[in-house]
Amino acid sequence: MLEPSVLIDAETVQARVRELGAAIERDYQDKDLTVVVVLAGSFIFAADLVRATALPLTLDFFGVRSYGDETSSTGVVQITHDLARSVEGKHVLLVEDIVDTGLTVKFLIDTLRTRAPASLKLASLLHKPARTRLPVPIDYLGFTIEDVFVVGYGLDCAQRYRNLPYLGVLTPSDGSSPLR
Ligand code: IMP
Repeated sequence: MLEPSVLIDAETVQARVRELGAAIERDYQDKDLTVVVVLAGSFIFAADLVRATALPLTLDFFGVRSYGDETSSTGVVQITHDLARSVEGKHVLLVEDIVDTGLTVKFLIDTLRTRAPASLKLASLLHKPARTRLPVPIDYLGFTIEDVFVVGYGLDCAQRYRNLPYLGVLTPSDGSSPLR
């Protein structure tokens, strides 16, 4: 496996996630919050984010497939695991790992809207504006990054690297530009 170079170190990630958690805690005082986690890429971000948020929230999970093992979007989004409970009348916070083209998150937002939540907001650890095809407002954003393929802190390349505590970029050993 290639050794990723550090893009954003673990301490910086943790500090930013704590800030987002505090903002969410302020905004959702007195609200019945349901956090919807998009599997698998956002599982580590979501785990840290909810622990940085001292609210009586509930959790649910969407499993989606938008990439397979490739590193470029197909634009085809498939729900592989649907929510276990209704979100009707709930204040929903959708938690994504990265908004790249925006196709996946737009599909999930459209899907959630048909289920009549009281409100719907989006948290994303990362945003790659250079790749946007469908612009989607991100209410709680961790970091804006360049057009590089990132791994770690839940994000994978061919299902590997998810357990890295930092965000890294894969750089081929021949010194060519990072995978994308
Ligand atoms: P989008 O539909 O193009 O916005 O892509 C969304 C999904 O693609 C994300 O939830 C990730 O699972 C995956 N993805 C996009 N860019 C990256 C990356 O740089 N590293 C790892 N996964 C990525």
